[in-house]
Amino acid sequence: MKVGIIGSGIVGQVLAKAFTSEGHEVMLGTRNTSKEEVVKFKKENQKIDTGTFEQTAAFGELIVLAIHGSSYEEVINLAGKKNFGDKIVIDATNPIAAAPPVNGVLKFFTSPDESLMEKIQKQIPHAKLVKAFNSVGNGQMYKPKYKEGKPSMFICGNDDAAKKTVADILSSFGWETEDMGKIEAARAIEPLCILWCIPGFIHNQWTHAFKLLKA
Ligand SMILES: NC(=O)c1ccc[n+]([C@@H]2O[C@H](COP(=O)([O-])OP(=O)(O)OC[C@H]3O[C@@H](n4cnc5c(N)ncnc54)[C@H](OP(=O)(O)O)[C@@H]3O)[C@@H](O)[C@H]2O)c1
Repeated sequence: MKVGIIGSGIVGQVLAKAFTSEGHEVMLGTRNTSKEEVVKFKKENQKIDTGTFEQTAAFGELIVLAIHGSSYEEVINLAGKKNFGDKIVIDATNPIAAAPPVNGVLKFFTSPDESLMEKIQKQIPHAKLVKAFNSVGNGQMYKPKYKEGKPSMFICGNDDAAKKTVADILSSFGWETEDMGKIEAARAIEPLCILWCIPGFIHNQWTHAFKLLKA
C-alpha cells in the first residue's frame, strides 16, 4: 500500500520505518521538507520519500496522523480536506494541552465527553478514522518484545472494514488488537496516554505497554 504519514516527529518517523519494513511505500509529511531533522531522516532512510502535508495526504492510499494534537485543524487544512476523501486514516494523536503535567499527570484540552478523534472526524467526515498507537511509546510501536506476550492495542472507529485493515497492520507490527467499538470510545482510549505517561514522568519508565487480560 501507499502510506502517507502526516507528521515528522518521532512517531511519524518510527511508523514510517515500520510501514517500510513491512513492504509498504511510504511518504513522510511535514510543513518544511528542508527542516534539519527531516533532511537527516531522508538521508538515513532512502526508501522513504518526504513531502508537504498536502503531497503526503494526496500520496497515501492509507494515511496516518502523527501530529501535535492542538495543530489538527491547521494540519488538515494544509493537507487539504479533499485529499483525505474516504481513505482509512490511522489517528495516533493525543489532545495534550500546553500546560505542564501535575505530579506526572498530563493535561488534555478535551473534556471527558469528547475526544480529539471526534474533532478530527468532524473536519474530514468521509474519512475512515481508526484510533491506534496513541497509548504506547514510540519505542514499542513496532515489534514490541515482552515476556508476557503480545501487548494490546486499543482501537476504535466507525468503519468496520477500516478497523479490520488496521488490525491486520497491527498484527504485522506484533500487536494484539482490542476493538473498543465506535468513535466515542476514543474518549476512553485517548486518556490511556495520560496513564501510560505517569510511570515515565515519576519513575523514568517508558517501555511498558498495556495488555487486556481475559478470564
Ligand atoms: N512521542 C510518543 O512516543 C507518542 C506516543 C503515542 C502517541 N503520540 C502522539 O503522536 C503525535 C505525534 O507526536 P510526536 O512526538 O511524534 O510529535 P509532535 O511534536 O507532537 O508533532 C510533530 C508534528 O506536528 C506538526 N506540528 C506541530 N505544531 C504544528 C502547528 N502549529 N501547525 C502545523 N503542524 C504542527 C509538526 O510539523 P512539522 O513536520 O512541520 O514540524 C510535526 O509534523 C502527538 O499527538 C502525540 O501525543 C506520541
